[in-house]
Amino acid sequence: MLTIFERLKQIAREIDKAIKNEDLGYSSKQNATGDEQLKLDIASDFIIEHILRDVALVKSIISEEKEDIMEVNPDGKYTICYDPLDGSSIVDVNLSVGSIFGIYETGNLSGDGLRAAAYVVYGPRLELVIAVRGKHPRHYRSGARGLFSSRAPIVLKEKGKLNAPGGTQQYWSPTHRSLVESLFSEGYRLRYSGGMVPDLHQILLKGGGLFSYPGTQDRPYGKLRMLFEALPFALIFEAAGGQALDEEGNRLLDLCPTKIHETTPCFFGSNYEIERFKKVYGL
Ligand code: AHG
Ligand code: MN
Ligand code: MN
Repeated sequence: MLTIFERLKQIAREIDKAIKNEDLGYSSKQNATGDEQLKLDIASDFIIEHILRDVALVKSIISEEKEDIMEVNPDGKYTICYDPLDGSSIVDVNLSVGSIFGIYETGNLSGDGLRAAAYVVYGPRLELVIAVRGKHPRHYRSGARGLFSSRAPIVLKEKGKLNAPGGTQQYWSPTHRSLVESLFSEGYRLRYSGGMVPDLHQILLKGGGLFSYPGTQDRPYGKLRMLFEALPFALIFEAAGGQALDEEGNRLLDLCPTKIHETTPCFFGSNYEIERFKKVYGL
């Protein structure tokens, strides 16, 4: 697994370079979910595929930007599911974006089979967070010559101050609206950039809060994809001492997608806000 983590650092540096130097415009293609692909979505996917191909432990890869699973090493042990560039819609306005990785046991693509998760933040500084089950997530920041140095592990407090509500407000359910309003009326502040990586990173580093992406009238199953967005962050939130649930109150890590691009409503937070979510939703 350590070899994989080392390769994630290489991936982070290469994608960071591409974001800083390459064309930020759209390609003429769409991905499996029907999103217009940026040239950078495709370039980031290519970088990850080529680096992971060289890692014997990796049997197969599943990308947000690929229709199907791709086998890379027949004798490998893990399937890595990834979102090469999260936040494609905010690249053009120069906000922080990210990459997300879920490392699954091959043959067990579910919350239960998820062995480790990681994300990269391409912000003013390059950062990497890696989590394995049962240990506080490790946090790295890149400095001189692109070297990553280790920072304090990530530990959530019981209660935070930030509220990050996703989705189109016009299509929220009355229940969801009252959850969001109940936190604001208690002094929570809005923090939402439109990129789940920087938005969740902010909640993790500031000690807590709630990030929600509910099922809405226009997207009843939410927007965020299980294998390479929701489940990896669920592992990271639980490892940091928080919780990650779906709209029925199930742990996201108890879910098992039936299709590789399946989405789920999701709620990530510190304990106080998740208890509030359960109460308002009647769970
Ligand atoms: P991607 O760029 O990989 O398609 O993902 C974008 C996701 C996620 O980062 C973010 O939280 C969400 O889309 C924002 O969606 P809304 O604009 O609907 O809030
Ligand atoms: Mn994404
Ligand atoms: Mn993406």
